Amino acid sequence: MLPAVVFGVLAGGVVTTPVSEAEPIPALAAALHSGDCARCHQVPGTEPLGRIDSCHSCHVWVKDVAGDPVRRDKAKAVFPLWERYEKNVATYLEVPSLEAAMARLDPEWVRKYLKDPHDLRPGLNETMPRFGLSDTQIDAIVDGFAAAKVAVPTVAPPDPSRVAEGEKLFSTKGCVGCHTFGARSTGAIKMAPDLAHARARMSPDTAAAWIKNPKAISPAATMPSLGLTDAEALALRDYVWLADPKWTQAKPLGKAPTPVKAPVTYAQVEERVFGKICVHCHMNPDLNQGRSGPGNGGGFGYPATGIELQTYEGVVAVADRIPDALLRRRLEAHRDAIQPGEQPAPLTRPATPGMPLGLPPISDEDIALVLGWIEQGTPR
Ligand code: HEC
Ligand code: HEC
Ligand code: HEC
Ligand code: HEC
Repeated sequence: MLPAVVFGVLAGGVVTTPVSEAEPIPALAAALHSGDCARCHQVPGTEPLGRIDSCHSCHVWVKDVAGDPVRRDKAKAVFPLWERYEKNVATYLEVPSLEAAMARLDPEWVRKYLKDPHDLRPGLNETMPRFGLSDTQIDAIVDGFAAAKVAVPTVAPPDPSRVAEGEKLFSTKGCVGCHTFGARSTGAIKMAPDLAHARARMSPDTAAAWIKNPKAISPAATMPSLGLTDAEALALRDYVWLADPKWTQAKPLGKAPTPVKAPVTYAQVEERVFGKICVHCHMNPDLNQGRSGPGNGGGFGYPATGIELQTYEGVVAVADRIPDALLRRRLEAHRDAIQPGEQPAPLTRPATPGMPLGLPPISDEDIALVLGWIEQGTPR
């Protein structure tokens, strides 16, 4: 920690420095980097962020090293907790390709999604975090999506007469093995979106072309080309477009958890909540070569908060704000962390996002534990 006097001098310096006009965002890459998109997604046309800065690259690196006996032995020598890391890292290992998304998605849908994201892939635990981006940043990103969108031929508009044929093909051509489609088909693989969202996300022409040959729309597509005829692609598109998804509503909120009455220690809440999840965005820079994470030093469009959740002192300093942050995320789960077959519920978002941002809410059991620990006066 810096002594208060030094901190005062630094803060003074910041105040007296003239505030320059914000740089206009020249290019999409800059816009995407300013929103920290590259921490999870590969930004097309730029080098991927290294593992020091990227949630995705570092988590993948941990799994890669885990699978290589030589590098694993080295890592175990350097990191005393290596085996725990291998076991725990589970998120951001796979993230959708922005290149493939830009090639097919309607840019105006992207605008709405950035302001109010929702679960697209119910089999994937992580969702897009809600960002603190300015309208200027969002405009620049949306313009970039518009410029990168791939032109496709105009085909026949959606027609109910093709839906029954499309429904048959959906099973026989293997779509059913990868995709959720509302509550009609729920055996999805992690990375295939719920097809019930497609009609809101792209034009019917783009959907037909994508179904026929995804790689022709974007080489980054991971969906395989299934050797369909034009007529089959059209029938499938119309099934996806017109069939009722038969979504069920995400379950209504149960009662908010009540604080645990039995004595709770800091070690318990550290192990199950703060050290397991929160610390990864709220690091203590003194313990991480100066890095502090987006929840502390600022990121995802949000200014710095100064909140570190890696040490007892850091957690206690914001203990009064933690219950509300956890309960807000619980509320957002109806839109951000739904089960296959459920429709993301509309939500009036609180101004401040719930925590943990972009991840499913922590379990009611763990919330009850944290509430109990705080009610008991945050014992060590
Ligand atoms: C913390 C990680 C993270 C960051 C940072 C992030 N995203 Fe995402 N993004 C995701 C995840 C996870 C998904 C998949 C969500 C789902 O399927 O429900 C996603 C999905 C998307 C999609 C939909 C793509 C598709 O194939 O369905 C778009 C578009 C997108 N992100 C754009 C952005 C932009 C623009 C930024 C920067 C402003 C950004 N993302 C930053 C994790 C992230
Ligand atoms: C330099 C490497 C590195 C970077 C960068 C990194 N992580 Fe992690 N992350 C780890 C390790 C190692 C663990 C396991 C920690 C443990 O078990 O104590 C982990 C665990 C996690 C966990 C809990 C386990 C899981 O996967 O759900 C979350 C959540 C998480 N990280 C989120 C993030 C987010 C969000 C970012 C980007 C802002 C990020 N991480 C960046 C290395 C990293
Ligand atoms: C091997 C798994 C797999 C199979 C089989 C598959 N898809 Fe996909 N599909 C994906 C993935 C993954 C994506 C997301 C984009 C990407 O990464 O290619 C996708 C994207 C799509 C999209 C764009 C949806 C959106 O909201 O962005 C449509 C439409 C689609 N698939 C329809 C189909 C149809 C129809 C079939 C059957 C002919 C099918 N898919 C078969 C994996 C698959
Ligand atoms: C993926 C990154 C990420 C994770 C994981 C995360 N945070 Fe945050 N947190 C942020 C960001 C970004 C902000 C700033 C939001 C803002 O300014 O509105 C923030 C702000 C906060 C705030 C201040 C706003 C408020 O609600 O009063 C609290 C408290 C907080 N986080 C607690 C937590 C707790 C507790 C956890 C673990 C359960 C957690 N965070 C996990 C990124 C994260």
